[in-house]
Amino acid sequence: MGSSEQGEHAIHTMFLEERRYPPSPEFAAQANVKADVYERDFEEFWETEGRERISWFQPFDKLYEWELPYAKWYLNGKLNVCYNCVDRHVESGAGDKVAFYWEGELADTRRTITYSDLQSDVVRFANVLKSIGVKKGTHVAIYLGMIPELPVAMLACARLGAPHCVIFGGFSAESLADRANDFEAEIMITQDEGYRRGKPLGLKKIADEAVLNTPSVKKMLVVAHSGGDVAWTEGRDIRYDDLGKDASSDPADCPCEPMDSEDLLFLMYTSGTTAKPKGIIHTTAGYLTGVATTHNYIFDLKPETDVYFCTADIGWITGHSYIVYGPLANQATSVIFEGTPDFPDKDRWWDICERYGVTILYTAPTAIRSHMKWGPEYAQKHDLSKIRLLGTVGEPINPEAWIWYREHIGGDKAPVVDTWWQTETGMILITPLPGITTLKPGSASRPFPGVDAAVYDESSNEIGPGGGGYLVLRKPWPAMLRGIYNDPDRFLSNYWSLFPGNYAAGDGARIDEDGDFWLMGRVDDVMNVSGHRLSTIEIESALVAHPLVAEAAVCGRADPVTGQAIVAFVTLKGGKEGSDEIVKELRMHVGKKIGPIARPSSVVITAELPKTRSGKIMRRLLRDVAENRELGDTTTLADPSVLAKIQQQAQAKP
Ligand code: WTA
Repeated sequence: MGSSEQGEHAIHTMFLEERRYPPSPEFAAQANVKADVYERDFEEFWETEGRERISWFQPFDKLYEWELPYAKWYLNGKLNVCYNCVDRHVESGAGDKVAFYWEGELADTRRTITYSDLQSDVVRFANVLKSIGVKKGTHVAIYLGMIPELPVAMLACARLGAPHCVIFGGFSAESLADRANDFEAEIMITQDEGYRRGKPLGLKKIADEAVLNTPSVKKMLVVAHSGGDVAWTEGRDIRYDDLGKDASSDPADCPCEPMDSEDLLFLMYTSGTTAKPKGIIHTTAGYLTGVATTHNYIFDLKPETDVYFCTADIGWITGHSYIVYGPLANQATSVIFEGTPDFPDKDRWWDICERYGVTILYTAPTAIRSHMKWGPEYAQKHDLSKIRLLGTVGEPINPEAWIWYREHIGGDKAPVVDTWWQTETGMILITPLPGITTLKPGSASRPFPGVDAAVYDESSNEIGPGGGGYLVLRKPWPAMLRGIYNDPDRFLSNYWSLFPGNYAAGDGARIDEDGDFWLMGRVDDVMNVSGHRLSTIEIESALVAHPLVAEAAVCGRADPVTGQAIVAFVTLKGGKEGSDEIVKELRMHVGKKIGPIARPSSVVITAELPKTRSGKIMRRLLRDVAENRELGDTTTLADPSVLAKIQQQAQAKP
């Protein structure tokens, strides 16, 4: 249980956390969720949500089927996700309602997009895709930044029944190519350039480099955003504007394809415990029902009056489920922000919240900790009085950050929902319900209605109140992954073999006397850096691919802002000694191979790595070194003196 050692430390302080925040009577009186929700029957709950929340072309005839570990939901239903997210709202007369306020990174680049606008944009985009050969079943890779065309492209794919795979705009050419290859993408959608802190960022350039190694990609559709010059490959590259200007935006010219409940909607790649990322499969009806239902109850969404702002990138699962599909299915008005929280200044988010009248904010603990570090004065410059609900996701939140968030952003009254879930779960699974739950800072509270979560020990015994162990899920839920693309064996071994018959989340958790869950972080070789999931082995492979490197071991070190920071221990070929240049070069190399988010914060170059007599690297001890802790048991080391040397070297580093 690697990082659970850290979790162990964190949890002691959390269990001393005794502050309680019961719901206010005013909030409770208007809450979407009713007090008896936890008593509802699991099947009745999802049956009702499926029937009432979703518009079906043909109703489902069976709620679910579970041939362990494969679940199917809403069997034999026919529906279209784009129809549910866009067309039905226009048809019901809500066309003038705002779907998205888009706020660009550069000053004064803004767009207000109503549901009618969104429909026209999506239909036009879908017609362009059709004209370049996309049809039901065509695999479309999307490499776009946070521009309006990103949700539009996703919805256009959903409209046509073409599965999409969005690859986060911060990934390198190599990471992009790996994912597009595994997905067998036929079309790549990208943009000329994005912006990062006001400077152009060449997305097409990266896509060009990636596509050299993705033989399945035949066409590249390029959206103009910055208007900057980009290299052009005749015959392969297509300007969206060239085709878009003549394409019809009339929905009658591009009907929504009826899809089966279990048709593939998208893949989302995530890091696991090996070097190869996993293509997580999400299908149509269960996913949509799951994200729409949770979004409605957990964020207490009032579509008529709320303005909802989720700060995640759409290139990750949080953006898919809680910027695009859940909110749109619920006819929400949302903010999409292209930029970073501190450009041009550290009050950018608060300026956005004030200007659009944001009422619900959903962000990550790492962002909250950055704002804490910058100080509350940036928020105090703005009127945030409309904010009535706050959410967090991505990693355990420390009680101090939770309280700061509620106090300084939530006016000392907004409930904070700490939501636990994963790329694989598709939807939030453990969370408070605002209006019902008495909140405890640092606890994600209880499983969502209909979700059966528990904590097990290594031998699959359930752990009772007060104890800690592995988080498992014992019953299927609608938005659950349907597998790993092209890798059924890994699906079984990764999630279903540790606690047979149960889904192993890879997280440690504790349950307190009230039955509330306290998440303790990953128990495997996955790190969580600023809410990004990264595999230690993926980074080790990138390091070992450098010509100077003989061996590498990577681990996470607790960091006050980013949650974890990446520490790499490296030995060089031929016993070469390290230097500042080599350290810099290796950091850049990892950034180039995987993406800047994967760059180690420190690289310790050492003559040897601590190994057992059978030659296994002892990562546990490296973690102790990285965290400056007293060393654990070293008796199995082949040469205990190695560790003393590494400790010296690590301490010599900043
Ligand atoms: C962690 C993000 C504690 C956890 C939606 C999980 C959390 C991983 C929380 C999934 C939370 C997410 N409290 N830990 N509220 N939310 N995590 O796939 O370790 O990017 O396994 O999905 O983030 O990360 P992923």
